[in-house]
Amino acid sequence: MSGLLAGKRLLVTGVITDASIAFSVAKLAQDNGAQVVLTGYGRLSLVERIARRLPQPAPIIELDVTSPEQLAGLADQVREHVDGLDGVVHSIGFAPQSCLGGGFLDASWEDVATALHVSTYSYKSLAMAALPLMSPGGSVVGLTFDATKAWPVYDWMGVAKAGLESASRYLALHLGKKGIRSNLVAAGPLRTMAAKSIPGFEQFEQAWTERAPLGWSLTDQEPAARACLALMSDWFPATTGEIVHVDGGYHALGA
Ligand SMILES: NC(=O)c1ccc[n+]([C@@H]2O[C@H](COP(=O)([O-])OP(=O)(O)OC[C@H]3O[C@@H](n4cnc5c(N)ncnc54)[C@H](O)[C@@H]3O)[C@@H](O)[C@H]2O)c1
Repeated sequence: MSGLLAGKRLLVTGVITDASIAFSVAKLAQDNGAQVVLTGYGRLSLVERIARRLPQPAPIIELDVTSPEQLAGLADQVREHVDGLDGVVHSIGFAPQSCLGGGFLDASWEDVATALHVSTYSYKSLAMAALPLMSPGGSVVGLTFDATKAWPVYDWMGVAKAGLESASRYLALHLGKKGIRSNLVAAGPLRTMAAKSIPGFEQFEQAWTERAPLGWSLTDQEPAARACLALMSDWFPATTGEIVHVDGGYHALGA
């Protein structure tokens, strides 16, 4: 087997459509020699249909990252398909509508708590659920949207992402002694199902299209997926707690 991830065994969460960043990660990973196990949430028959578009068959395990039972059973279910994991991809985000689109001042704690549970705390939960299968050299990768700034309409999801960025650094701290890395990819705006659920998302689209130094495609998930692959490869062996921006250079600009 050849390729950047030859022989690596990956767990990829977050496929729901073929526009999902996770779908691009799974596809590219298979193309580059990895064995991929998917997890799916909610509409599993849809995930199965999308997974059939991958170059190779990939088993699908049901996982709601807020379910303690499903998290507790994850490692055993993964073991039915692979004997260990070299990489884990967290490509999951959700916030109730009240938390997005300008509702920052009015969103209830219950709704904000849901956003933080699914989008922030779950990064740690997923890593811990997969940990029994991981060994030194392993890599956990998640997806963020640059949380160093307050964006219009992103609201509590921005807070959730700021928490995710911090959680990744703490995971790097606590899993470093086991030789396991934790890094994030900060992607620019991409037209996925999650993005479409954000009222006013087109403001990001316009800003990036007009201003990103390298230009930006709203429908090309591959640059973000490539960065995920690189972070799970052997080519970033001493990098952890890092955030790699895959945004056409937008983050480097001033106002
Ligand atoms: N699309 C963008 O513009 C963009 C930019 C930067 C970062 N991101 C991040 O990329 C990641 C993937 O999102 P995407 O844009 O590919 O959208 P997507 O809608 O394709 O993927 C989001 C996934 O989260 C899953 N999910 C939601 N609740 C879950 C739960 N309780 N348990 C398990 N899975 C659950 C959904 O099933 C879906 O597969 C998210 O973290 C998102 O915030 C997206």
